[in-house]
Amino acid sequence: MCGIIGLTGHNPSQNILLDGLARLEYRGYDSAGIAFFRDNSGHISVRKTAGKVSDLRAICDDDNTSTCGIGHSRWATHGGVTNANAHPHKVGNVTLVHNGIIENYHDLIKEFNLQDKLVSETDTEVAAATFDANYDGDPIECIKKTVSKIHGTFAFCIMFKNRPGEIYCTRRVSPLVAAFTEKDGSFVASDLTAFIEYSKQFFIVPEDTIMIMKADSMTVQDMDGKEVTPEYMTVDWDVTAAQKDGYPHYMIKEIHEQPAAIKRTIMTRIKDDLPDFTEDNIPDSLFEGVTDMTIIACGTAMYAGNMGASLIQNKFGIPVNVCIASEFRYERPVLSENSLVIVVSQSGETIDTLEALRLAKTKTQRTLSLVNVKGSSIARESNYVLYTHAGPEIAVASTKAYTVQVVAMYLIAAKLGLTSGEFTEAECKKFIQTMQTVPEAMQKMLDNEQDIENLTRRMTNAEHTFYIGRGQDYRLAMEGALKLKEISYIHAEAYAAGELKHGTIALISEGIPVIALATQQSVYSKVISNIREVKARGAYVILISMDDEITDPSICDVHLNIPKIDDDFAVFEAVVLCQMIAYYASIGKGCNPDQPRNLAKSVTVE
Ligand code: M6R
Repeated sequence: MCGIIGLTGHNPSQNILLDGLARLEYRGYDSAGIAFFRDNSGHISVRKTAGKVSDLRAICDDDNTSTCGIGHSRWATHGGVTNANAHPHKVGNVTLVHNGIIENYHDLIKEFNLQDKLVSETDTEVAAATFDANYDGDPIECIKKTVSKIHGTFAFCIMFKNRPGEIYCTRRVSPLVAAFTEKDGSFVASDLTAFIEYSKQFFIVPEDTIMIMKADSMTVQDMDGKEVTPEYMTVDWDVTAAQKDGYPHYMIKEIHEQPAAIKRTIMTRIKDDLPDFTEDNIPDSLFEGVTDMTIIACGTAMYAGNMGASLIQNKFGIPVNVCIASEFRYERPVLSENSLVIVVSQSGETIDTLEALRLAKTKTQRTLSLVNVKGSSIARESNYVLYTHAGPEIAVASTKAYTVQVVAMYLIAAKLGLTSGEFTEAECKKFIQTMQTVPEAMQKMLDNEQDIENLTRRMTNAEHTFYIGRGQDYRLAMEGALKLKEISYIHAEAYAAGELKHGTIALISEGIPVIALATQQSVYSKVISNIREVKARGAYVILISMDDEITDPSICDVHLNIPKIDDDFAVFEAVVLCQMIAYYASIGKGCNPDQPRNLAKSVTVE
């Protein structure tokens, strides 16, 4: 969590830093700050405040001509949301921004006798004071000494008082990407979106190195002083992909981007209506002889994994275990070399998922990650990677990243079905052909946005809600409930429709909204019976189904119809409704769906 940025170049840096921070705000928005060499001299000024980047902008001088500075947007871990706890932190000769967690900050305070130097409650200020204690005029030696003492995760951008125009960076686990252009100078940030308008080429700053940024050069060296040549990568999207493009929020823009994103994700992986991962360098042998599967992820990514798991296990009889990454990493992994492990992550930086992947790799080399962010840690560390081409997802609530994860899981399912002999070629082709109709089917749902908005107004006043369904609908219910909770703060629970009467139905009372998913024809009559059970107890039922007309209209209060499609693919239509229900509930309550309270998009602390 937290977004950091640094720039040293030839032009005034303040607005570039502020614009970059605004794009990194999805990583945390408790406070924001910048520091810069005033008049490009050895005097470092800091501007910081609790609140958002817009609040920071309001307190920044217009006449700041400094061409070198660093910035931070914070997701609070150590210490509350206060001005003092905001970054950058300045201690003596050192001013820095930090993303990560310094686990041994108490020990550092004692060892370096720092107590009197600290004015905040943060672990970061302790790190700044430790760097300062180790600084005798040589930044490289200071960084080497200090990071060898630090336990935890970090990405630091550091300015030393007697080094105007220079920024020093180092990292362990926490992400940092960088780019250098002759025209604009040296850039570094937690994520490429921060400086995409200046360079589409970037590199991941290697761990345990020191990067030295100047206006006319950028060098990286390892801890022994040996130069490291970074590997540049290129992205195929531009700054408009990271802007709202006329939509009021990123979330609704990203909901609308789903058909195009799905096309991008499947396009190069289908040859003659069969799944083909040749361009991803994923050999068919990865899927041969698979005895069992484990899918590891967090949050929405895990719910996408759930959807794939249910399809694979039910269609092909391959046992699939879906694991919450933060649990998996502290449990005994029951995996063999024929187990296929799939790790799902939009950011590719979720720390629990990354650590779970590392643990899984001690048992099997059949690890495949589904990742959106190119070059991210999970993508680099897994044996194989299948990039989901969602483009940048800025809203904290995941929407397009979810649907491309599900469709990627379906491509993998098709490949597994084919290699295991459970799918005939003809069956597989039919499946893939239906998959190719998904973007159009989703577009139809998106075209009805106004109706959905009107029909779901009632949700705004709800305190509690339930999402129910069976089979794939139950898996989708979990994602629907999470979406509503995280952006509207309405309590939502997902239940397997048949399980309600084993306890939870006691919570159904007059007027409680129940979003009932009944898109699965194989269990349709069963779920309708379950809906009657809640309706009989006074629930306000919003039914999502493929019925053109409901034979017994008394079973629901609102009916949202989705066009007929094969059971396996109904999720892609129904999810649009779930996303819009959440979005409009959030708007109706006056919340900001892009920046829900207490959350950050990229969860890099455990
Ligand atoms: O970047 P990741 O996909 O690994 O993130 C996993 C979860 O943190 C993420 O899906 C989270 O649940 C979203 N905020 C849900 O909308």
